[in-house]
Amino acid sequence: MTATNRDELQLSRRSALGLVGASTLLGAPALAASTAACAGPAVVAPRGPAGEYQLPPLPYASDALDGFLSQEILELHHDKHHAGYVRGLNSTLAALAEARTKGDYSGIKALSRALAFHGSGHVLHTLYWHSMSPNGGGSPKDGVLKTMLDASFGSVDGFRKQFGAATKQAEASGWGILAYEPLGDQLIVTAAESHQQMAVQGAIPLLVCDVWEHAYYLRYQNRRNDYVDAFFDVIHWDFAEQHLAATRQGAVQGHGGR
Ligand SMILES: [Fe+2]
Repeated sequence: MTATNRDELQLSRRSALGLVGASTLLGAPALAASTAACAGPAVVAPRGPAGEYQLPPLPYASDALDGFLSQEILELHHDKHHAGYVRGLNSTLAALAEARTKGDYSGIKALSRALAFHGSGHVLHTLYWHSMSPNGGGSPKDGVLKTMLDASFGSVDGFRKQFGAATKQAEASGWGILAYEPLGDQLIVTAAESHQQMAVQGAIPLLVCDVWEHAYYLRYQNRRNDYVDAFFDVIHWDFAEQHLAATRQGAVQGHGGR
């Protein structure tokens, strides 16, 4: 098996396992190279020398979204909150390795819960930074994303309304998520509570909006709806287009693509 074939097999397997965007978000550089070759640049979160997860840099200056979110909010959110999920993910994986070494799985329930919490937190925050752009907003260009938004939601405006409503009504802390569901080869909107609840297994997040209070409270206080409405002014359609193409390329689909 060639290295490329092995990478592609790994990519398909990861997608089949539904590791919420792991193929393009958390993959090793070889996986990213494979993905990028078929569908343009994909998001790659850095890994340390021992394979540990690392906090990815913001894809723009921390004051670049100032009309929407202040530099203070973005730096707190990225440098403190996102960094905390990365630390939690690494420490949970270390605890799981220790459990395997000792053959002691008495704490597996809590560790599995921690893995889902911190792993999903890291994936979703990585995606969140790319879901916004200082040059974002407006409508997606003609392309696969727009075609699939039309097919799945009736129109881009139909998506906007469903995504906005689902995100505003996510209970307590959560997320609005535009996801690709490979068995139906279609787009769906989900709203995660916390990071990992209400997940559709196998669906791969493409574009997300963080509605934990730490994402918006310093500017919007309790006006979550205003924050979600303003999110559409910075929504990064080009990223979603590229991420969708890379994701579909590596996904196991139930039937042929459009
Ligand atoms: Fe957050």
